[in-house]
Amino acid sequence: MTRDNIIKALDKFPTPLYVFEAEKLTDRVDYLKKSLPSGVSLCYAVKANTFVVKELIGHVDRFEICSPGEAYICDAQAVPRAEMVISGVYKDPHFIEELFAKGEKVGHFTAESKEQFELIRFLSEKYKIKTKLLLRLSSGNQFGMDNSVLCEIIKNRSEYEYLDICGVQYFSGTQKTSIKKLRREIRQLDNLITKLRSDFDYDCRELEIGPGFPACYFPEDEFDEDELLRGFSEALNEMENRPKISLELGRSIAASCGSFLTRIVDKKTNCCENYAIVDGGIHQLVYFGQMMAMKKPYHSLYPERQGEPTPYNICGALCTTADILVKQLPLICPEIGDAIIFENTGAYSVTEGISLFLSRDLPTVVILEKDGKFTCVREAMPTHPINNSNYGG
Ligand SMILES: Cc1ncc(COP(=O)(O)O)c(C=O)c1O
Repeated sequence: MTRDNIIKALDKFPTPLYVFEAEKLTDRVDYLKKSLPSGVSLCYAVKANTFVVKELIGHVDRFEICSPGEAYICDAQAVPRAEMVISGVYKDPHFIEELFAKGEKVGHFTAESKEQFELIRFLSEKYKIKTKLLLRLSSGNQFGMDNSVLCEIIKNRSEYEYLDICGVQYFSGTQKTSIKKLRREIRQLDNLITKLRSDFDYDCRELEIGPGFPACYFPEDEFDEDELLRGFSEALNEMENRPKISLELGRSIAASCGSFLTRIVDKKTNCCENYAIVDGGIHQLVYFGQMMAMKKPYHSLYPERQGEPTPYNICGALCTTADILVKQLPLICPEIGDAIIFENTGAYSVTEGISLFLSRDLPTVVILEKDGKFTCVREAMPTHPINNSNYGG
């Protein structure tokens, strides 16, 4: 975030505060599109950040939705039904039926098991809606279905009048930096498509892959992203049977647009260690790959001061010794009231924290619009009514 925008945000909103920059987000999508082979479409995994869905409409081609809550959010933001991919390891039958009953056709469903397949088949027949389906192939965990189950469904596809089984979905993990691993996966998927053609005369028209492209949170973990995307693009171009490719991305799209602003509310030295207590904490700021608060994330301190840096343990507002955001972070003359700005926090962090612990408020969330104006999309929200036996009573 620029210094000017930090000043404006701190002036206008209380901390702890998330700011998501709309322009950075869409610039990021443009960069990814430019770096990938033409014709490859982007599907935003909504779980990465539900607050920026609106900003992405018209920039990405699809939205992957894994829960009723995510679907309601996308509906509220007017994501076109045709761009929705209804996915997820648990598909609540009532909710899925709700989608069919509305009659407005959803873009795609995924099936992660024979059970889910049967549910979608049943509903497509009940409501007589021709339904596009992607079969999720497992990567060896609870997600997706085994190769043998997938093949069986494809073999019998002519029996399913209202299903258009248009292809395969595959996701095997996040924060992948190994081009070798990515290449190997593309080769395996290519082989699968060949086999489906030769064994079942099946034309796999779509491949929706979650490549788990990484985001960089710590300077020590920097990698050459251009090279990674070049290698991945080459792997796609080398496919023998390349269907329409859609990349399901969360972290890689959303991480760089976000900043978390938290103020120092207390400062002390205990047993020769410096501590800065901030109004945020581990319930609000989560970094993938952080190790016992040892790694120092991209950050800045406002206001900036002159002098020698001194190491501070940055601790949050929860009453637990676990609430350490960063250990031994070098800061120059920090004062109570100063803000620490943690960067690249646009993906997952805002919803991943243990937000109900200690009944602290949820942080304020604002969008920094392209015209430079801030829009508050969630005011600081108290959690004490939820953690209360009178809740709902
Ligand atoms: C099926 C699926 N697709 C895409 C994603 C997004 O992953 P990432 O944020 O690494 O891009 C996830 C994340 O859990 C996922 O489960």
